Order: sequence, then C-alpha cells, then structure tokens
Amino acid sequence: MLRMLRAACYLCRAQNCVPNGHIKIATAFVVEAEKACWHSPNNNRGFSRKSHTFLPKIFRKMSAQSSKDRPENLQFPFLDDDATISTVKESKTVFIIRGLPGSGKSTLARAIQDQYKDACKVISADNYKIIPAIRSSIPEDYSKLDEDLDNYCKRDISVVVVDDTHHERERLDQLFDIADKYQYEVLFVEPKTPWKMDCLQLKDKNQWKLSVEDLKKMKPSLEKDFLPVYYGWFLSKKSSEHLRKTGQAFLDELGNLKAFKKESKYFLPDEDPKIKLDLTGHFAKRPPGVLHCTTKFTDFGKALGADEYAQQEVVKASYGKAFTLTISALFLTTKTVGARLELSEQELLLWPGDVDKILPIDNLPKGSRAHITLGCANGIEPVQTGIDLLEFVKLEKAGNKV
Ligand code: 2AM
Repeated sequence: MLRMLRAACYLCRAQNCVPNGHIKIATAFVVEAEKACWHSPNNNRGFSRKSHTFLPKIFRKMSAQSSKDRPENLQFPFLDDDATISTVKESKTVFIIRGLPGSGKSTLARAIQDQYKDACKVISADNYKIIPAIRSSIPEDYSKLDEDLDNYCKRDISVVVVDDTHHERERLDQLFDIADKYQYEVLFVEPKTPWKMDCLQLKDKNQWKLSVEDLKKMKPSLEKDFLPVYYGWFLSKKSSEHLRKTGQAFLDELGNLKAFKKESKYFLPDEDPKIKLDLTGHFAKRPPGVLHCTTKFTDFGKALGADEYAQQEVVKASYGKAFTLTISALFLTTKTVGARLELSEQELLLWPGDVDKILPIDNLPKGSRAHITLGCANGIEPVQTGIDLLEFVKLEKAGNKV
C-alpha cells in the first residue's frame, strides 16, 4: 500500500555547527517523504535484469485487467502495485522490454498499454520491420524507431515502452542516449513465460520463422547478468524537484544566518562575511536528472561483494518497485550538501552490510550512510557525501550536539 506521508516539511531554525578538524557540519531537521523507484541508473551504461514499474490513467477501471485476472507470468509491480504505479505516474520512464523472439514481449507491452492507456506509448521493433538477428552493426532501420522515441520523450509522455529483443549492448547504449537527453529513467522488463529461453518452443512461437540455431545464437547475450554501476532509489520527478527546492531553501536560509556567517571562512574565504553567503555557488556541482540514494555501488560487478549483493532474492524482487523514503535531515560540510534518510525495515533489507563505516573499526547502525547527494563543492566527487554523513553520525554517537 502506498504510504504517502507527505508530512509537513519544516526547516529547523538554527543550525549547529560542529567543528570536526577542518570540517564544519551544519544540519537542519526535516520530516518529509519522497517517492522513489528502486533500480539502477541508465546514464552509467550499466544494465541489469530484473522486474519493474508502470502507470495507469483514468480509464483504467473500464478495461484494464486486474492482477487477479492476469496470468502469473504477467504480474509485475508496474501493473499491480499501487505505490509503484503512482510513483511511475510522477516520473518519466522508458521501459525496455528484452527477450528472445516469441518469448512474450509484445503481450507484456500490450498489458502495459492496456493499463496505462493514453499516458503510455508503445514502440515495437516489429512494426519497423526490424528482423531480430546477430549482426555486426546496428542496422539503419532503427533510425525511424529512434525518431519516434525521441518525439515521445520530447512530449514528456510519462511511459514509453520499447519492445525489441535488445540483445545488443551497442543498441542499448543508443537508447540510453535518448533517455538521458530527455532525463528519462530506464527500467528493464523481461517476460516471465516458462518458455522464454526454450529455443525449441520459441521456434514455433516466433513470427519471423527464426530457426532453433538462430535463436540459440542470440540466447547467450540475453542470459548474461550485467551488473550496473550502482543500485539505488531514484526519486520520482515530482519528489526530486521538491527535494531540490527544499535543499535550495536550506542553503539560502543558512547563507543568511548570522551565526553561520562566522563559518564563511571555511566555505568562501575571500567573501565579505557581512554579505549573504553564496552557498548555492559554492555547491555548484549538482546531480543531473532525478536525485537518488545509492544502496550498493557495484561498479559493473568489480566492487567487493557486488555479485553476492545482486544475487539476493530481495534485490531481484525489488527491482523497479516503489518505496517511500523518509528524509530526516539536511546536512552540509564544506565539501558536500545532502539529505539524510531514515530507512524503514523493508528498505534496510536492501542496504548492504559493509557501507556504514569509514574505518574498519567503526560500528555504526545499519543505514547510517543512507543519503541523497544534493550538491558538491568544486573538485569533490559525490561519494564524499556519504563519508561526510558518516563523520556526522560518528560525532552524534560520541555525544556531540549536532
Ligand atoms: P552518492 O551521491 O549517493 O554517494 C555514481 O557515481 C554514484 O555512485 C554517485 O552519485 C555516488 O552516489 C555513488 N558512488 C560513487 N563512488 C562510490 C563508492 N566508491 N562507494 C559508494 N558509492 C559511490
């Protein structure tokens, strides 16, 4: 059930600045919830293989099948889960349906279309006479399909479905480019039909009359598990805009605060402490697209524990599912500004066991690092925000009033 607790957001008056060596930390307490879909990003060229999300419109009740009527292999959060549906409604999402010819991709695309009606556009490679095959380069035939995709994205259609085999990495990169251009999130969807990898059965089901041999050649690229750069919660477009505004108000208020101006030498040493501190200018590096909270940084599978993390049932089952993230504070140091999250029990199941420490001896509660980066000072990478938050949690634990 959707826990839409858009509770009042209040910025606490004064911020306590806690000296920590050269780092100053300021916090403001907020109680607020943001809707977010859990998956992996597209702009890093990482892709994964799990389940997913979508959105309905007003005519849904008239003709859309309810989850009870739908076969088990057509049950997905984006068709059945209210929270996911409403989150996707507030977002811009390209659904990339992947799978062998005859595996049930078009049926899935139709179920999505049926559910989402006019908020959704389906682009099927079949309609562009693109024959699925192993090929040395991406055929020119895709240019018309890409033009249509580009047009839908330009029109801000919230859900765009691309139905194709999507067995080539190069082709996926082309789609990521279009999604990135219009700041769409990408979610992968695969049919769950029992025969989806059975080339003997697929031979009879595929409309292109592809042979078992043709199908077998395509199969390995669809079986491979590619890990993304990271997994995380991606805020809906609406929540993301809202949190950005809240972060901006935090910086403005802080920049005007008399007590905080004393700290200006740590942020903007050359500025006159009598005038308003331009903290927005200081945190000039801001995340592109929608804001996110990283759960596991998998680094395309190279990070320690990446495979073990990705193989967990909860990770597989949560891909594309919506959550409500609770933001408990905004914080900043000289290097970063971010939002601290308080994870629910369910959310903590997706939290890795090894990220809540700076030093091996640190012993902080699970989820201590959970944050959303809002901005970084020049020359600082976003990974620093989590480290700064951990510093802050350590100070808190040591009894400092923050
Ligand atoms: P963050 O802002 O949530 O910390 C892509 O690089 C994203 O991965 C960044 O936005 C950063 O997210 C996170 N990230 C980068 N390097 C990381 C690392 N070594 N460990 C954990 N998260 C990292």
